[in-house]
Amino acid sequence: MTTTLSNEQIASFRELGYLQLDAITSAEEVDRLRGIFDRLFAERAGWEKGRSFDLAGSYNADMTPVLPQILNPIEFAPELGDTQFRVNALTIARQLLGPTAEPWFEHAIFKPAHYGAPTPWHQDEAHRYDPGVDYEQLSIWMPLQPATVENGCMQYIPGSNRGPILEHRSLGGDPRKSALECIGEFDRSAAEPCPLPPGGAAIHHCRTLHGASANTTDIPRRAYILAFRSAPVPAPAREMFPWLVGKITPAAERAEAWKNRGGPLGRSARRIGEFTPQLRRENKTSRAADVGELGALPHSIVAERASWVTLPPCNTPSHSSKRRKALRFPAPRCRVVTHRVRHARKHSPTSAKPSRFGWKWRRKTPPVNSRRKARATPANS
Ligand code: NI
Repeated sequence: MTTTLSNEQIASFRELGYLQLDAITSAEEVDRLRGIFDRLFAERAGWEKGRSFDLAGSYNADMTPVLPQILNPIEFAPELGDTQFRVNALTIARQLLGPTAEPWFEHAIFKPAHYGAPTPWHQDEAHRYDPGVDYEQLSIWMPLQPATVENGCMQYIPGSNRGPILEHRSLGGDPRKSALECIGEFDRSAAEPCPLPPGGAAIHHCRTLHGASANTTDIPRRAYILAFRSAPVPAPAREMFPWLVGKITPAAERAEAWKNRGGPLGRSARRIGEFTPQLRRENKTSRAADVGELGALPHSIVAERASWVTLPPCNTPSHSSKRRKALRFPAPRCRVVTHRVRHARKHSPTSAKPSRFGWKWRRKTPPVNSRRKARATPANS
């Protein structure tokens, strides 16, 4: 079963910022996926890697999650790679974003029966911090049982995809919570619920305001989301959104601890492993997962990983050599992160000025010699 969009559907997506499809895959596949999801959530797959976390509620391992989520579930269930949903979703993404659209990340969300928490209103783009690149992104959301207003189907604000990015904050003002909530002005009464049969799909643009209500029914609401993006293009560096500054979630801390497991020896061994094509592929997939929405990782680090694949052009000789190192040793490390932040600053028009000899740092304190001169001048005069 293949699915493609008509011209009317494409036009409607551009106009409203979302699209509703009755079927994107078969009922048999949905049954199979439901079994995989139930297993992954029962095992809390990827907890120690920071892939599994509670999006909206408590963030301690010993507390019952109210909105559990697994980022990049394909890492823990490779059979997810072989689905008609994936094939159809890519076709649709290329129709909407252009032929260069590529899979970006994926996630699985489980909204427990009776107490599954609401998903706060947000724009996916508000999670993003990619200082040197720009791209368009969309998400294809598929429920694995009927999705209704009562169990938390998606809801959208039509046309919000054509508006600005509104002000957000961490859910409840707690920077250790993964979710963001929109606190900007918008008309909540304009929300359009998007009820779907199992195997249907709700597609939304990364700028579209969306949320979902709590699950008050007797069955859990599972959803599988594939995100795609257009080919990234170099863009001027921009400031990080204020609501991302200082945001660090327990899942992010677990992810960092996982990356550094085994200490320097473990890191070296994994770095050597990068030379095998299979590990390189796996790491690339897992880096893409890191940049997913929902703040699983500190956004400063997330952004560096996101732009690793397509570093914008940089002609500074010292940067070029670091860039080569970053490409040769793509495992995210502080050194690479530092470089990317420095790179963004260097190319920001306010922080550096080009000189005849290349880029020059604006000095915060005068050099030692000029201080000596300054002190010496009054005494001599
Ligand atoms: Ni979202």
